[in-house]
Amino acid sequence: MTDMLDQYRVAEEPYYRPVADEVALYEAAYAAKMPVMLKGPTGCGKTRFVEHMAWRLGKPLVTVACNEDMTASDIVGRFLLDAEGTRWQDGPLAFAARHGAICYLDEIVEARQDTTVVIHPLTDNRRALPLEKKGEILRAHEDFHLVISYNPGYQSLMKDLKQSTKQRFGALDFSYPEHATEVEIVTHEAGIDATEAGKLVSIAERARNLKGHGLDEGISTRMLIHAGSLMARGIEAPAACRMALVRPITDDPDMRDALDAAVATYF
Ligand SMILES: Nc1ncnc2c1ncn2[C@@H]1O[C@H](COP(=O)(O)OP(=O)(O)OP(=O)(O)O)[C@@H](O)[C@H]1O
Ligand SMILES: [Mg+2]
Repeated sequence: MTDMLDQYRVAEEPYYRPVADEVALYEAAYAAKMPVMLKGPTGCGKTRFVEHMAWRLGKPLVTVACNEDMTASDIVGRFLLDAEGTRWQDGPLAFAARHGAICYLDEIVEARQDTTVVIHPLTDNRRALPLEKKGEILRAHEDFHLVISYNPGYQSLMKDLKQSTKQRFGALDFSYPEHATEVEIVTHEAGIDATEAGKLVSIAERARNLKGHGLDEGISTRMLIHAGSLMARGIEAPAACRMALVRPITDDPDMRDALDAAVATYF
C-alpha cells in the first residue's frame, strides 16, 4: 500500500511562479482543512499550482479528471471480482481520504450532480466518506485535502455546481499573469529568451481582447509555451505561432486573419 502511495508523491519541485499570495492562502486553507476551489480559464496554471503545493507540503497528489460518465463508484470505490471472490477497491477519492493525500478533482462541473454530492460529507466538519456498499464510514486522514478546479467561463445553467457544493470551498481566482510574470514563465518553460517570450505574450494580450468578439477563449499561457517550444527547436516564429496559437483556437477565416496580423506585428 505504501508503494501505491509512493507513485502519487511529487518527487521534484514543479516550477511554479506565484502571481499573488496564492501560496500562503493555500497553505492556510490546508492547515485549516478548508477545501479549495481553483477558478480560472484553461492553461493558466491551476494544475501546476496544485502539483507545486503538493510538493511543498510533502503530500501525495491524486488527480481525477472528471467527466459526465463518471459515477459515484468511480471515485468512491467498488467491489471487484477476482479468483478469491470479491474484493473492495477504494476509488481515488477514498484512497486519498484514507491515506492522507491531496485529491484534485479536475473540471468538477463535468461530473453529474449526483456524483458531485458524494464529496459533501468529506468537505464539512464530518470529514467522512460513507462507503455505503461496503458498510464503512471512512474517516478522512489528518492530511487529506480536497481541491477542485472550475472554469467559470464554460458553465451553463444546466452545468454548474450547486450552491451547497460551492459554499463548502474557499476559492482562488486564477487568470493569465501580468506581462512580466508571464514572460518569465514562458522563458522558463519554453527555453527561449525573454525578448522572444515578450513578443509571444504581447500577441496573446491582443488576442485576449478578442474574447467574446469572435473568440470563445483567449490564447493561454500553455499555448504560448507551445509556440516557444517550437521556436526553441528551430521553427520560425510565424510558423510556430500559426501552429500553436492561431490554428487551434479558431476555424473562422476572418478571425485567423486578425490573429495572423497580430503575429505579424511582432514577428
Ligand atoms: N504561474 C505559473 N508558474 C509556472 N508555470 C505556469 C504558471 N502558469 C502557467 N504555467 C505553465 O502553463 C502550463 C499550463 O498550466 P496548467 O496545466 O497548470 O493549466 P490549467 O490552469 O490547469 O489548465 P486546464 O484548466 O486546461 O487544466 C503549465 O504546464 C506551466 O508550464
Ligand atoms: Mg489543469
